Amino acid sequence: MITFILNNKEVKTTLPSGTTVLDFVRYHQHLMGTKIGCREGDCGACTVLVGELAAGELRYRTATSCLMPLGNAHGKHIVTVEGINMNALNPIQQAMADESATQCGFCTPGFVMSLAGFCLSDTAPTVQHAIAAIDGNICRCTGYKSIERAAARIANLIESRTDESLVKFGTDKGIVPNYFSTIQERLQALALHLNGDLRTTNRSAQRVGGGTDVYVQKHDEVKDASIQFLFDQQDLKGIRQEGNQCIIGPASTVTDLIESPIMQTYFPYFNTYTKLVSSMPIRNMATIGGNFINASPIGDFTIFFLALDATITLSDGTTSRQLPLRDLYLSYKTLEKRPEEYLKQICFELPGSTTAFNFEKVSKRTHLDIASVNSAIQLKIDDDIITSIRLSAGGVAPIPKRLTKTEAFLTGKSVTEAVVLEATKVAQTDISPISDARGTEIYKRLLISQLIKAHFIKFFPSLNVAQLLV
Ligand code: FES
Ligand code: FES
Repeated sequence: MITFILNNKEVKTTLPSGTTVLDFVRYHQHLMGTKIGCREGDCGACTVLVGELAAGELRYRTATSCLMPLGNAHGKHIVTVEGINMNALNPIQQAMADESATQCGFCTPGFVMSLAGFCLSDTAPTVQHAIAAIDGNICRCTGYKSIERAAARIANLIESRTDESLVKFGTDKGIVPNYFSTIQERLQALALHLNGDLRTTNRSAQRVGGGTDVYVQKHDEVKDASIQFLFDQQDLKGIRQEGNQCIIGPASTVTDLIESPIMQTYFPYFNTYTKLVSSMPIRNMATIGGNFINASPIGDFTIFFLALDATITLSDGTTSRQLPLRDLYLSYKTLEKRPEEYLKQICFELPGSTTAFNFEKVSKRTHLDIASVNSAIQLKIDDDIITSIRLSAGGVAPIPKRLTKTEAFLTGKSVTEAVVLEATKVAQTDISPISDARGTEIYKRLLISQLIKAHFIKFFPSLNVAQLLV
């Protein structure tokens, strides 16, 4: 039985856990304010708020309900646009109306929910962050300037926010209805009565992380399935440091990584990398473990962690074994993993003071798009010599790949323009790209050369760029 609070009422359902939250709220609860646009997480028309207890505190994040399995709503507070409606328009709805930020209105509930999520998040209340909060929402009518003006008004409204409870601030300002102030207690009471996290003892049950790719690729297959979810298993979450090792629970989301003080310290540009990866609601849902096991040859975080030479722990529930991430991929979507095994832990060595890291990506759109080619590099330099290098690339082979020949060529070299150019030639022997919707083979071969140059230009700004542009 899946149980959660939907707006202001507790609901229970025996529908398959793979049913999407979108279908549940529209077709079983008749809440039609949540719209269906793309069903692929791209348009934001179906955005809802997901409230859950984190370390005993109520926290809200946005999610695209078209990609969210009902099983992941278990024990949470799901809020549709009806759940923030009051007698009069709330300040977000009013700002959208006043700024002419709505025409046909189809996208508007999604924008309103994203801005409500911004108001209930602890993000600094700046205009820039308000606009970032709607980066997953598309409007076909208004143009975006009117919507940005509405977002700016909301940022100004919450500018005076202090350290008080975010929900209290939201109810005091009339941004969300008063019943929100009861949710924390109601979720705590609910947690006492729930059956853990819906884990099944069926070892062959499917496992889904955030579902952000599985529901795009295999919606019809998983929507009726009973699925064992990674996403909500508390023992599979968390990011911690032990000595010079970082240990990540595979059910951690991209947002969890962004908010992790460890990642912020050791990867100062991490936030910049993630902006290239996806929109906010997708970052809120997508798990690192899901990215690895999904085995897409262009999985951004797989490429990221390949360059960190991460090790994974696989478990069948009884025994565990460790495997370098680079050895997980055998051929296209074929893994060195038994069906009953699941990903239990990810571990990597944190970069030292002489280690540099970089991630690059090229896609048709700069932001929020699937890569044509992506690449990450970790480089250790001692006395001007490369003593250790790990270089990974996606979109250039049937699997996410370490470029081992290029690594071998660069090891022991000192970095010059000629060495970098030679490395781009060696890289051509590491890869076997195919022509597809994301580019021709020739284009992808060019891209990997350019990304390798980009890595080294970032690390060594004194390199003569003109000499590299040959
Ligand atoms: Fe477009 Fe869900 S329907 S993001
Ligand atoms: Fe029509 Fe945005 S107002 S799609």
